[in-house]
Amino acid sequence: MTIDKFFIRVTGTQSFHQKNMRLLLILFFYFPVTFSYNYLVFCPLFGHSHTTYFAKIADTLTDAGHNVTFFTPTIVRKFSSHQYVKSTKHVIHLEPSQQLEQYGNTFEDHDFTKFWTDDSSLSEMLPMLELFNKMFVEQARVLGENLGLLDELRERKFDVMVFESFVDTAYPLLDYLEIKTFIPSTSIAYDPNLLVSIGEPRMPSAVPLPMSKFTDRMSMIQRVINTIAPPIFNFFLSKPEYRSFRPPHNLIDIPSKESLSSFIFTNSNPYIDYPRPTIEKNVQIGGISVDVEKLRSQKVNEEWDAILNLREKTVLVSFGSVMLSKDMPLENKKALASTMIKFPEVTFIWKYESNDTDSFAEGIQNIHFSKWVPQTALLADSRLSAFFTHAGLGSINEVSYLGKPAVVCPLFADQMRNAKMLVRHNGSIEITKYELDDETKIEDSLRKILYDESYRTASENLAQHLANQPVKPKELLLRHAEFAARFGRLPSLDPYSRHMSFIEYFLIDVATIILFTCLLISYLMFQITKQLAIRLPFVADDAKKCN
Ligand SMILES: *[C@@H]1O[C@H](CO)[C@@H](O)[C@H](O)[C@H]1NC(C)=O
Ligand SMILES: *[C@@H]1O[C@H](CO)[C@@H](O)[C@H](O)[C@H]1NC(C)=O
Repeated sequence: MTIDKFFIRVTGTQSFHQKNMRLLLILFFYFPVTFSYNYLVFCPLFGHSHTTYFAKIADTLTDAGHNVTFFTPTIVRKFSSHQYVKSTKHVIHLEPSQQLEQYGNTFEDHDFTKFWTDDSSLSEMLPMLELFNKMFVEQARVLGENLGLLDELRERKFDVMVFESFVDTAYPLLDYLEIKTFIPSTSIAYDPNLLVSIGEPRMPSAVPLPMSKFTDRMSMIQRVINTIAPPIFNFFLSKPEYRSFRPPHNLIDIPSKESLSSFIFTNSNPYIDYPRPTIEKNVQIGGISVDVEKLRSQKVNEEWDAILNLREKTVLVSFGSVMLSKDMPLENKKALASTMIKFPEVTFIWKYESNDTDSFAEGIQNIHFSKWVPQTALLADSRLSAFFTHAGLGSINEVSYLGKPAVVCPLFADQMRNAKMLVRHNGSIEITKYELDDETKIEDSLRKILYDESYRTASENLAQHLANQPVKPKELLLRHAEFAARFGRLPSLDPYSRHMSFIEYFLIDVATIILFTCLLISYLMFQITKQLAIRLPFVADDAKKCN
């Protein structure tokens, strides 16, 4: 039924008033109803932050009136009691195999405390990534054993499936559910392999890798590393095979499937991240998890209200929930505490998970230790002056949107990059984890962040940019998810460049031709000059004769 037919049936003959009514109805009522699509968000439960992010995508679609199914097979059991989606009603769980649960636990039980004093090395990251691969293969095996459930899912005829790009299990699932349109997404800034598949330039000369410590200004050695790291990882990582769940169980070629994605969603925000060339297919929805209005409307309870009123300024110190303050080396705790004494006019709220604080902070009046802190409500409070943070992506987004100056001390994973990305906006200062025992350095950073107004101005400026982004991340997500549901695959967004050879793409053949032409011209010029030079003395002699 077309819009017009529908309204004539509803309104009968049209008057001016009815025409206005019609417009109103179109705007407020008709669109959400007609264009309600059927989405499947596939998110195996292996990591808290990953699931939080995909649950947010699901809820955003649900809140816009779409029919969303959140399919979240369990891998790490301790997360399965957590309610990730809020408004999405159809949630499907699936029991893990023993093997799958074991992989999940190996990952979960990994000891992160060493990152207080060490960096992660290649020899450590490779086994971790291998484990991921094995886990997703096993997840695919478990799905293959539950075809009854998948048959039910196929009946629902989903328009679009959204999933995390490196969860390769999604591809046999897409194949079995016969879903043609899909949107691989990343919960990090970007996935270098996915970019290659869809034909987006990765630009290693100025865009640091998602887990790198570099900024957009790299030395030559850093550029070498930034360029060769992804191929090296790909070389060492075994690429597992995925086969269709349906006989004859054909092999699935994942990179060529990836190139058929309608869009990709990446968790990066162009107003915070480094500027880079992208293609239309890449929709940057970084910031969807931040609901600024909700954050700003939060109020701290009486207890925290009193703490915020204690002194002129207040600083929140938190290293997140993966790396705990209590596991920090004692000399770092001592250095932090004795620096805090030097700021008697400042209350420090320190998220600290144990009762042993007397060993380094006995008798210090202006530190308030707490095992839990209402982080976002505190950040939203105007009495909070600054945030001392580990630079997790969630915290980075919150300080950016709420416009607070920060001292960032990244510990591991993507935090190194997040920290540098934020510092670039001039509202924050980075100190490395190796400087956490350096009182002078800590004091210096705190003094600047608290008393140099330029940091506050810059961070408020960034918050203003984010609040007034021309198109909000939520809107980007919705409009593109709907466009994909309506039009399916979008070959017009598929750049031919991805079929080109290395030599063609980087114009090496063209550069060679230009170089040879230049050489040839130079050679010819040289020869001509030489010839002239041989004749020149005679010319000069002739000239003399004339005189
Ligand atoms: C929404 O999805 C559920 C489960 O997938 C299905 O039972 C229901 O009929 C769908 N509703 C609409 C309006 O499509
Ligand atoms: C940060 O400060 C530098 C130096 O003053 C300036 O060149 C740069 O444009 C500033 N960056 C932003 C994002 O404001």
